[in-house]
Amino acid sequence: MISADVVVAGCRQLLTCAGPLPKRTAALGDVGLVENGWIASRRGAIVFAGTEEEFRRTVRMEPDAGTVDGAGLVALPGFVDCHTHLPFAGRREREFGLRLRGWSYRELAAQGMGIQTTVRATRAATPDELRELCLKRLDRMLLSGTTTVEAKSGYGLNFEDEIKQLEVLRGLAGRHPVDVVPTFMGAHEIPPEHRSKREDYIRLLIDTLIPEVRRRGLAEFFDVFCEEGVFSLEETRALVEAAQAAGFRIKIHAEEFVALGGAELAAETGAASAEHLIAVSDRGIARLAESGTAAILLPGVSFFLMLDKRAPARRLIDAGAAVALATDFNPGSSHLLSMPFVLQLGVFTLKMSVEEALNACTGNAAYAIDRHRAVGSLEPGKRMDLVLCDIPDYVSLAYEAGRDPVRTVIKDGKVVVEDGRRVDGR
Ligand code: NIG
Ligand code: FE
Repeated sequence: MISADVVVAGCRQLLTCAGPLPKRTAALGDVGLVENGWIASRRGAIVFAGTEEEFRRTVRMEPDAGTVDGAGLVALPGFVDCHTHLPFAGRREREFGLRLRGWSYRELAAQGMGIQTTVRATRAATPDELRELCLKRLDRMLLSGTTTVEAKSGYGLNFEDEIKQLEVLRGLAGRHPVDVVPTFMGAHEIPPEHRSKREDYIRLLIDTLIPEVRRRGLAEFFDVFCEEGVFSLEETRALVEAAQAAGFRIKIHAEEFVALGGAELAAETGAASAEHLIAVSDRGIARLAESGTAAILLPGVSFFLMLDKRAPARRLIDAGAAVALATDFNPGSSHLLSMPFVLQLGVFTLKMSVEEALNACTGNAAYAIDRHRAVGSLEPGKRMDLVLCDIPDYVSLAYEAGRDPVRTVIKDGKVVVEDGRRVDGR
């Protein structure tokens, strides 16, 4: 018999999302559905997921074990938000207003607004202020079922303030149930003080920041915004090579607006992911499909910027790419942090099936940040990170459009959200 200290009993449906990761093509359509599913864990690690009959035959509950009633609820893996710009300060309502009056996102950026606005506010914030902002956002993410989040720096754009953002991220560990995976994105933009001599900023990144962030162990991934008017393909290549030499794994913001070849570069250099891909070329799709590089799609951006163009999710999936979905939570191009909403955008705006969108928000998202051995599916050995949704059938994750169905969240085997409220004392 297997012993367990927590069980979620009798879920109307249990979606394990089990199977080898990343999922591609047909496998993306399989969510491991178990009707009347039971799932048990011990010390935060899953020991069983399956049917009631099998549970009764193989699992023994420890004397003080806790039971969560899954009756009438749909259980799924905790969401993994694999692309966010979490640690920023300030707000951009004024610029949002200008956009509503016809300005484009890129016109705002060209006028010294956009990312630069947030850089000014983030530089001015103290570490304590930044930490409080992050904790509040993590609270909201957790209520919507996110249990692991990737978080990028990139609003400091100098030594002191990039380190400040990354240290704030490190300080979140142990203060909040959501696990945070840090990415160094000093190459998010050229800061204003280096505008007339961009090479100097690239040298600062390569000679000082990349080695120093690595030496301090402040981030696992390095990300760069490869885009017309930001970092060119050649600059991106130089940065990627320096970051790989220092020991980082790579992510590239690629083809958000213009196809420069960032997707091909990501595949060629064995990057963990290429992200955005709204304008990705046929060649980029083919290179990603034959690589281990995840294609992270961020449908919140086309939605929030009201673009007619969307990432070609269907073509990427049909070609065989490892497609993941994420919020891109940031104050300018995607000011949203709900993964259930992103799942719905995946279905309604990218034409993904509900099954594909769910795998893209869980297992494939975990793969994109190298956490797939620990989270992203409900299988023995992985963390007991689980969401219970108040819907009659998992298809309602999308069918009940606009609804956030998350009712209970369990993190590492501990109930942290119940009836839509935090119950772990924060
Ligand atoms: O992922 N693309 C670059 N960076 C963010 C937007 C940042 C901002 O507008 O503040 C993004 O879309
Ligand atoms: Fe982004």
